[in-house]
Amino acid sequence: MSDPSADIAKVLISEEEIRRRVGELAAQVQSDFAGRDLVVVGLLNGTLMFLADLVREIGLPLRLDFIGVSSYSDGTESRELVFTKELKLDVANREVLLVDDILDTGKTLRAVINKLNGMAPRQVRTCVLLSKKARREYDIPADYIGFEIPDEFVVGYGLDYAEKYRNLPSIGILKPELYS
Ligand code: IMP
Ligand code: MG
Repeated sequence: MSDPSADIAKVLISEEEIRRRVGELAAQVQSDFAGRDLVVVGLLNGTLMFLADLVREIGLPLRLDFIGVSSYSDGTESRELVFTKELKLDVANREVLLVDDILDTGKTLRAVINKLNGMAPRQVRTCVLLSKKARREYDIPADYIGFEIPDEFVVGYGLDYAEKYRNLPSIGILKPELYS
């Protein structure tokens, strides 16, 4: 197998830029949630790297849990949402910070926010590493956004194309000939 970075046409966000911005987001979260009963909920699998880096920079006591949601599509078009892992912690009366890799149409976050709101949390705030504003179909409040990016399909740092490229340390645009 060849080096996955060879499939990248252009690096959009470097490791260094990611590190700096994640530090800024963590500092904001830390000041906003100081003294609160915080549960950080990550969406599997795309938030793996982002969540790991983010929570290590948040100097607050917090609980960590995950929700699995999959569109059961192996390409770039999202389809029907299926929950593959349910939340284990009780979030009733707690502050929830919902973390996702990318806010695209907003369909995923809308479904997860609705689900969480049924569990009577004090508040649900959202944090996404990336946002593609041009693609939004649902009006989802993103309280913390790492980077606004153009309408391009990106991979790396947890983001996949057909489950590949999640292990690339930077975020890049795939070579167009690799899309089927
Ligand atoms: P939404 O439900 O349309 O907002 O899509 C959100 C989900 O689609 C994300 O959690 C990603 O898994 C996936 N997604 C959207 N855009 C991209 C992209 O550019 N690269 C990789 N995954 C993406
Ligand atoms: Mg995905």
